[in-house]
Amino acid sequence: MGLPPLNPGLFNLAADHLWVSHCSEGPVPAASVRAIQDWLGRELRPWKVRWNEDAVGLPAAVRKACAQVIGAEAEDITLTPTTSSGLGAVAHGYPWRSGDEVLAPLGEFPSNIWPWKSLAARGVSFREVPLWEGHRAGAQALASTPPPPSVDPEAAILKALGIRTRVVALSWVRFQDGLKLDLGRLGAQLQDRGIHLVVDGIQGAGTALPDLTGVSAFATGGHKGLLAPQGQGFLWTAPTFRTTLAPQGTWLSVEACDDWSRPSTDHERDWVSDGRRLEPGVPSLLACTAFLASLQTLLEPGIPAIQAHVRSLQEAFLADLNALPDWKEEAERLRDLLDRDRLGPFLALHPGERGPASLQSLLDDGAERGIDATVREGYLRIAFHGWHQEADLARLRAWFSGTAN
Ligand SMILES: Cc1ncc(COP(=O)(O)O)c(C=O)c1O
Repeated sequence: MGLPPLNPGLFNLAADHLWVSHCSEGPVPAASVRAIQDWLGRELRPWKVRWNEDAVGLPAAVRKACAQVIGAEAEDITLTPTTSSGLGAVAHGYPWRSGDEVLAPLGEFPSNIWPWKSLAARGVSFREVPLWEGHRAGAQALASTPPPPSVDPEAAILKALGIRTRVVALSWVRFQDGLKLDLGRLGAQLQDRGIHLVVDGIQGAGTALPDLTGVSAFATGGHKGLLAPQGQGFLWTAPTFRTTLAPQGTWLSVEACDDWSRPSTDHERDWVSDGRRLEPGVPSLLACTAFLASLQTLLEPGIPAIQAHVRSLQEAFLADLNALPDWKEEAERLRDLLDRDRLGPFLALHPGERGPASLQSLLDDGAERGIDATVREGYLRIAFHGWHQEADLARLRAWFSGTAN
């Protein structure tokens, strides 16, 4: 394993902490914090803040960088505070008819549930489909079996489509079991049937490039793999789909909104057709300064280099786990899923017969060793990103084998 694509020195990570939890919260590069400090300094002197460079230019630069981290076009980017607000713009802008249905995999993160459930009063229903045999969620989540290597989530979704299904809403990478769905395969099949694929992309953005062919919308917050502070994310929409969505109705979503030679009260204007059509107003410029620096940090080595690095860390970690009798079976399941390109940037370890309660003591032991991992719905999550390195693997090895490190 060579040098990590992201120099660990770009962050302020303390030597006594091993942060394998960007699936919860990504560390923010020091450059992003400096950008915020610089911006605040200028806010003390408002005459230093310029309309074209800052209020217009900064969000435009952020949209461009957002497009680059997912391999898309800047015109199709809408700046939104969170994943939920991006999905909400789609859910509330779509021209529903009473009786329409949204289909989702069982056990989505709530950001991808409540925007759809909020449509109940308009006669739109929300239905969930299990993705494998033994898949459980909700009150039964801890009794779920983990996804087997032979899992075929796209087939399960396609089989469950109903005649009133208008939207399939799903996570690219699932927050608890880490399963990655094949967006290209689903998008193509759904497009043929006139159904929109709407994606919660937060658990994959920043560590892989999504295949957006056939996808109608892709929403993400910035605070995980994109390494930004919480509160600034984006929504990507396919151009033809976007024109079917009602605009948010803010003053920056109309043409020539900032042409000050024209009276602002002249409202003989069309809605813009690019991603700004769906923006909820002027984005937080403070958040934008940090987001831009975070995105530029990722774009320096590029997402493919980060993805390849994460993959080699995952392979090495699973090889270590495979050598431990207690974890051999789980390491084999995950390795098989990895080989089938079914995993995002974190490995979600299922405790099997030991039961979900066993994960807490493991987590506590890790915390005593300065290793910050997370548990969600019966899985222990170990997330790798572009700054992790060989020495981090040694610490994880010592943790799992119960030896000193
Ligand atoms: C799959 C998934 N979606 C969304 C979120 C966050 O949503 P939001 O950006 O709306 O806070 C998380 C984690 O916090 C998540 O794991």
